[in-house]
Order: sequence, then structure tokens, then C-alpha cells
Amino acid sequence: MKIVLSNKSKIENVDFENLQFGKIFTDHLFVCKYSNNSWNDGEIMPYEDFLISPSARVFHYGQAIFEGMKCYRSDKDSLILFRPDENFKRFNKSSSRMAIPEIPEKIFFDGLTELLRIDKDWVKKGDGNALYVRPFVFASEPSINASEAIEYTFMIICCPAKSYYGNQKIKVKIEEKYSRAAKGGVGYAKAAGNYAAQFYPTAIAKEEGYQQIIWTDSNNHKSIEEAGTMNLFFRIGEKLITSPTSDSILDGITRKSIIKLAKDLNIDVEERIITVDELLEAQDSGSLKEIFGTGTAVVILPIKTFGYQNNDFNLPDLDNPWSLELKKKLTDIQYDKSSEYEDWKVKIN
Ligand code: COI
Repeated sequence: MKIVLSNKSKIENVDFENLQFGKIFTDHLFVCKYSNNSWNDGEIMPYEDFLISPSARVFHYGQAIFEGMKCYRSDKDSLILFRPDENFKRFNKSSSRMAIPEIPEKIFFDGLTELLRIDKDWVKKGDGNALYVRPFVFASEPSINASEAIEYTFMIICCPAKSYYGNQKIKVKIEEKYSRAAKGGVGYAKAAGNYAAQFYPTAIAKEEGYQQIIWTDSNNHKSIEEAGTMNLFFRIGEKLITSPTSDSILDGITRKSIIKLAKDLNIDVEERIITVDELLEAQDSGSLKEIFGTGTAVVILPIKTFGYQNNDFNLPDLDNPWSLELKKKLTDIQYDKSSEYEDWKVKIN
């Protein structure tokens, strides 16, 4: 693999204590191109702007997908990627749905590990600190013909991050007008346009004082799906309920890890459809104890209030919420403080 190093690192100018998510990037990136039916070997180069044709199909038809994963630094100074094999599988699943050629495993992992080795100083120690790794691929062929491209660009960029919302608890709104995904659509894929389509309804929710939307099914807005940047878990009585993954729900890696960890704690986990009516009844009877979101960027995020049809409902303040217990179990694995689930950790040497 060709490697061109930057002349000077930007790291000295970065205030790692006050990071805004996704604004600052490390010194290098990995780039790999697809043409004539195959991917080239890829190269590492300094992180910088690049030239692209105004007719590149991605700008016109949105043929692009991405992944989000995190690299952690343990107290013993090892760098750990959390379940990157799952991100790789989902990357190609998303690509297939968007008619983008799959990326070979060797190119993905060689590029990823080499990039992390080179930019390792950007992975800081300490709870909440991580390097957010963003692999993405887009149709770079110059053509506005409305069909899949024959040329693509795959890149990996990285940004130092704290948890997405810090330690705050958030307020979410159950959406009844707009939809995130439909049956047979692309909701399960990390297609760039899935996120763009949420910005407008989310901006409206933000004006109303919420940070995110709880999406409901597109048929009749009765069953709960996900929150766009996170999957959702509901503690009703002593059960933990989460919607089953489907073609309209993202198969979250944090979601599946939390299901496993909750079962290990003998928590009764149900993966099944949960309706807005059930949620409201549980709230009414006092059995709704917790709602939390899970995702790579947010890790585990407790929700303090949900809004529905202009009413706000507050969740109780618990002494020992499951969200906290599960977050500790998960982050202990991610920072290599616990020896559980060694197969979830990929160490970068
Ligand atoms: C992630 O958790 O990686 C996400 O997809 C959220 C991102 C859009 C900020």
C-alpha cells in the first residue's frame, strides 16, 4: 500500500477536552478507488480536500453509504477496535442495497489498521474518549445518467470524539407525520440519504425543544422503530424491550451487544414490536421505568422525556438504572478493563 505522510501533525492545536463531534479530523486518510470492475490497493495520504467532478453521481442521486466505529485506548495503552467485523459486514450489506460494489475484506482492514497505526496518537485515554472512525463510499463517476455508477471512491477518515451528547439525558419526540423508512426501502442500510431525510423533521422537533425523533412505522405510525442515530430500549416493569430489526430498522452493533450483556445480567430481554399505545399505557400505570438509546456515537443515552401529541412525559429518576449498569459493562469491555468478550476486541499493534 502506498503511504504518503503529512509534513506536520495538527494534533498540537487540538483541544481534546472540548471537542465538538465530527469537526476535527486526524492527519491522514485512507482512499481506494473502484474502476474497470475492481478496487485498487488503496493508499494512505494526508487528510486534505480533493478534486471531484460536479457531475459525480453521488451529488445527483445520493449513491453513498457509510459506517461508524470507534477505536479506544486502554489504560495499558493498547488500541482497541470494538467489533469491526460487524461494521465491515454491515458496510457491504448497505453497499449491496445501494448497488455499490462490495469492498474486499483485506482492503477494508489493511486500510483501517494502517491508518490507525499512523494516527495512533489521536486516540486518547480516559472514559468517553475515543477515535470515531468513518469508512464511507460514494459514486464518484462523472455522469448524471440516473443509474448506478461504474466508478466509486472508498475512504476512511477519523475524528477524535467524546460521547455524542456528553452526559446529558435527552428529550425525544414520537413522530406521527414524517417517516424515516418504509417496508422494502433502505432503512436498514447506512445510506447517506437516510440521514439527510431526517434533518428537516428533526429541525422541527428541535424548535419544539426535543433533541431527536422517535420514528414510528410508515404505515400507521403505531409501532416504534428507532431514533435515527440510535436504536431504542424500553424498560417496562422488569422487562427490557427493543424493536426487532427489519428492513426499516438499523441492525445496530451496540444494540446487539447490549442485548447480549443484558441477558448475561439475567435481564428478561424481548425483541418484539412495541407500540406507542403500549408505551403510553406503561407510562400511565407507572411501569415504564427507563428508555435509552444505543449507538456507536452515543454509546448508551438515557432519555429523560418523551413527547407525544403535544404532551411531554417524564421518566422517573432511578437510583440504579439498567442504562448505567449496561453502559459500565459495555465500556469496561471497550476500554479493556474487563476480560469479558475478548472476541469483540480487535487490538491494533
Ligand atoms: C453512529 O453512531 O455511528 C451513527 O451512525 C451516528 C452518526 C450519524 C453520528
